[in-house]
Amino acid sequence: MIKDPLIIDYKNMLADSIGPKHGILLKEIGSLKKKASGILRKTSSERAKGKLPFLDLPYQDIKKIIGISEEISDSFDDLVVLGIGGSALGAIALLNALAHPYRNILPKGLRRRPRVFVYDNIDPDQFKGLLDVIDITRTAFNVVTKSGETAETLASFLIIRERLKKAIGAGWQEHIIATTGPQKGALRKIASDEGYMTLDIPSGVGGRFSVFTPVGLFPASVAGIDIEAILAGAQSMDKRCSQKKIEENPASMGAILHYIANTKKGKNISVMMPYSHALERVADWFCQLWAESLGKRVDLKGKVINTGQTPVKALGATDQHSQLQLYIEGPNDKTITFLRVERFTEEIEIPRDFEDLEKISYLGGHSLGELINAEQKATEIALTKAKRPNMRITIPEINPNTVGQLLFMLQVQTVIAGGLHNINPFDQPGVEEGKRLTYEFLITKG
Ligand code: PA5
Repeated sequence: MIKDPLIIDYKNMLADSIGPKHGILLKEIGSLKKKASGILRKTSSERAKGKLPFLDLPYQDIKKIIGISEEISDSFDDLVVLGIGGSALGAIALLNALAHPYRNILPKGLRRRPRVFVYDNIDPDQFKGLLDVIDITRTAFNVVTKSGETAETLASFLIIRERLKKAIGAGWQEHIIATTGPQKGALRKIASDEGYMTLDIPSGVGGRFSVFTPVGLFPASVAGIDIEAILAGAQSMDKRCSQKKIEENPASMGAILHYIANTKKGKNISVMMPYSHALERVADWFCQLWAESLGKRVDLKGKVINTGQTPVKALGATDQHSQLQLYIEGPNDKTITFLRVERFTEEIEIPRDFEDLEKISYLGGHSLGELINAEQKATEIALTKAKRPNMRITIPEINPNTVGQLLFMLQVQTVIAGGLHNINPFDQPGVEEGKRLTYEFLITKG
C-alpha cells in the first residue's frame, strides 16, 4: 500500500463540469488512450535499454551523497550552491518544500546543520550581498553544472575559487564539491586536476530531470532532509505511473488532459497554483520542466509546429489578490492545476474575538490551514462556474515521501505530453543557442 498517496481530481477539466467548449469530452480522452499507451510502451522499452535513466533514479545508491553531506555538515557553517536552470531549481524546490520556511535565519541552536543558499544568477549586487552574509572561510561551495561549461555558473565559480585561495591558502580545495557530468566538461577536468570532491550527474539525465540526482539530493541532505524518503515516494509514484490502464495512471491522464486543453480548447497557458508556501518553488521547478521540455519549434519529423503551453506560477492565497481576477474573467486560455495540502504540519488556531463584529468574528475558532483550504475550494468553485478548466492534486501532507511522489509524477507527465505533441522533450536547442551566442559575443569582445 502506498503511504500518503497523492489524490488527483480532474473533474473540473471535463465538459460535464464546464461545458464542451472549454471542457474535455470523455470521447476526446478515449481517442488518445491508444496513443498514450503506445508512448508508455515505448518509454518502458527505452527505459529497459537504459535510455531514460531519470526514471531509475529513485532506485539509486545514495551512500556517497549522504557521506559527503555529513562531512560538509560537520565541517562548515554554510553551503552555497552555484548553478542555474535545471542545475538549481530541483535543489530550490526540495529545500523550500521540506526545510523550515525560515531555515537560514533560525538561530543556530534551532538549526543543527549548515545554512544552505542557492545562488542561481549572476547579478553582481546579489552576489556581493551573499558574500556579505557568509564567512567564506566557514563555507562550502557546491558548483553544479551538468555540461561543466555554463557561463553563469563558471563565472561565479571563478570568483569564489579566487577568493577561497586568498582567504584560506592551503586546503582551499576542500571547500568545493563539484556536481557535474561523469566524464566530459571543463568543470570535471578542473575538479580532477585540483582535487575537489565530486558528485556525478549521470549521463543521459538532463538538467530539468535531475532533481533526484545529487543536483537536488545533495543540498537537501546537507539541510537535513530525508532524501531516502524522497526516493521512496518517487518509487511509489513510479509504480502508479507504470499502470497500463490509462485512467489509473496519473501522469498519462495529466498529460492527455493538458494536451487536449492546449491543442483543442485553446488553453495556451498552464498555471500551477499551490495553496502552500512550501510548494511555491515546486511550481517554479515545474515551469522550467514544462516550458523547456514542451516548447519546441519542430516535431520529431522536423515539421515546424512551434508548440508548447506557457507555464505560469501563482501562489494561493497570495495571488487571489493579484492574478485570480484575470483567471476568472480574463481570456479563457488557461488550465489551472491546484496543489492542495490536506493536513498542514502546524495547526494554528485563529482566536475568537470581536464577537460583535460579523466581518471578523467568523474567522475565530478556525485554523489557518482550514482558512487556506477554504480559499482553495472557493477559488476552484469560482473558476469552475466561470467555465475555466482546473484540476487539483491533493497532497495528504508535505513530507519527503509526498514531495518525491509529486516531482516524479510531473516529470513523467511531461515526457508523455512530449510524446503526444510528437516532440523531443529532452532537448533544448533554444537554450543551447543562447549559450552559444553568449560565448561568441564574449569571445569577439575579447
Ligand atoms: O534543463 C536544462 O537542461 C537546462 O536548464 C540546464 O540545466 C541549464 O542550462 C544549466 O546547464 P548546466 O547544468 O549544463 O550548467
